[in-house]
Amino acid sequence: MCGIVGYAGYRSAAPVLIQGLRRLEYRGYDSYGIATLAEDVCVHKKAGKVSDIPDSPEILQGTIGIGHTRWATHGIPSDINAHPHLDCTDKIAVVHNGIIENYTHLRRDLIDRGHIFRSETDTEVIAHLIEEAYEGDLLEAVKKTLPLLTGSYALLIVSTGENRFIAARNQSPLVLGIGDGEIFAASDITPLLEYTSRVIYLDDGDIAELRADSYHVYFQNNPVEREIKEISWTPDTVQKGGYAHFMLKEIFEQPDVIHRATHAVSEETLPSSLRDAKSITVVACGSSYHAGMIFRYLLEPACGIPVRLELGSEYKYTPVPFSDVIIGISQSGETADTLAAIRKGICNNVRTVAITNVLNSSITRSAQDTILMHAGPEISVAASKSFLAQVGVLMQIVNLLSGRQCIDILDHARYAIEQVLLTDLTDAVDICSSADHLFYVGRGVFYPVMMEGALKMKEISYIHAEAYAAGELKHGPFALLSPETPVIAICSPGQAYEVMLGNMKEMKARGTPIIAFGLENDTDVRDIADVVIPIPEVHPWIQVLTSTVLLQLLAYHTANRLDREIDMPRNLAKSVTVE
Ligand code: F6R
Repeated sequence: MCGIVGYAGYRSAAPVLIQGLRRLEYRGYDSYGIATLAEDVCVHKKAGKVSDIPDSPEILQGTIGIGHTRWATHGIPSDINAHPHLDCTDKIAVVHNGIIENYTHLRRDLIDRGHIFRSETDTEVIAHLIEEAYEGDLLEAVKKTLPLLTGSYALLIVSTGENRFIAARNQSPLVLGIGDGEIFAASDITPLLEYTSRVIYLDDGDIAELRADSYHVYFQNNPVEREIKEISWTPDTVQKGGYAHFMLKEIFEQPDVIHRATHAVSEETLPSSLRDAKSITVVACGSSYHAGMIFRYLLEPACGIPVRLELGSEYKYTPVPFSDVIIGISQSGETADTLAAIRKGICNNVRTVAITNVLNSSITRSAQDTILMHAGPEISVAASKSFLAQVGVLMQIVNLLSGRQCIDILDHARYAIEQVLLTDLTDAVDICSSADHLFYVGRGVFYPVMMEGALKMKEISYIHAEAYAAGELKHGPFALLSPETPVIAICSPGQAYEVMLGNMKEMKARGTPIIAFGLENDTDVRDIADVVIPIPEVHPWIQVLTSTVLLQLLAYHTANRLDREIDMPRNLAKSVTVE
């Protein structure tokens, strides 16, 4: 949560920083700010979205600068609480992603020593502490300050009279981009893609001194060499490419994504911890948790390996893990609760595997093994292609562990997904967009599919959407059914088909409008449902994938009809790096 970017080079810094912040906006969009270094440090900061400011603001001069886009933790979103934060002399500016846990006590002491605070943020203490430590050398002042901080940080700092900026990392991501006569620092690689493909992922404890034409990295006060890596993502992967929203673009990328994801793991690359496991715990949050739940429904019957499924945020309250291996699923690789689960596993000598989309993300540094799902950058805050990629990877793991090798089936997924992308959902969108409440129901593996569908709907359309295992509806929620509470049900051929038909009839008897996912020629479903969304007659695993895509599209078109901010829903941020 929060994105930071820094630049030193030959270009005017402000436009580079603003463009960089737009790329990072998915990390938080309550407020934004930049500081550039001319004669003095000049700051421009505001509540609101960085996407709202013009392309070439006439605001700031200088070729060195730092910027920030915020998801508020300490202090409301406001101009004052926006980063950068300044010290008392207005000479030192700091942007920060993370949380300074001991800031209350530091702030009190600083106030006692005469410092005047302007914001309510935890970050501002850092600017004041650096001010106290500053004796003409910003790098030295930062080195003296960091040991006083407890918590997580990725920091960028500029100071008047210093022809450089300083970066520091502890438990929050920070990457350097090495250009030709210019250098970048950012929370992730997306702001760098236009300028360079050579990056350095800083480690916890690293401090970097960054100038246009040189850089030095220090760890525990000693200079260190960090490997320069070549990245393969290109600038077009982070552009809308003619789509109205990133989310729509990302939904439409899914035929390719599923192909890449299901080929991301093979006999050769399957971690031995998974191959040997007699029991598995999966820990994840949000959509990633739903992917884990699908995995459980598929793996247990296929292999007889029990899967324990835990929400990242609740896992800390459970006793020592009992499984042989913990799989942490995280698109961003930065979700604090999922990372904590991996660390808990390691402390208890349990083997750990990360499934993530982001190379070199924090989870890849903690877990013993990593499987990359190769979905490509996901900019829309609501997960779509990353979810499908997670499911693809997990299906392939089931294939490998069960020795069934259904990869051919998954190859067909690509074509089935292409087929459903163009489904006309107008009638279903008419019903959903005029409802205040929606129920999503399914059975078996389609229950987590519906949980994911409901999550998509609520986060981007703001319509209250709740998913239930279809059999649970009668145990309470039935009391809410009425002509005003449409139900979205999935009734695909298979074990649960007859009972789902029965459930839909029961709901219909309460006057509830029903949108049913069913086979095109299924007259039984058609007789009950008000609207049928046709699903292709394919292998059940592929039905999981195609139904997911249709549910994403239903949420997308409903939100679009309601004119919602689809890519950046209110109050959310893409990587949840706080508990
Ligand atoms: C929903 C969504 C979130 C994430 C959750 C976990 O669309 O995107 O629910 O799935 O915050 O994030 P990761 O997978 O990055 O750990």
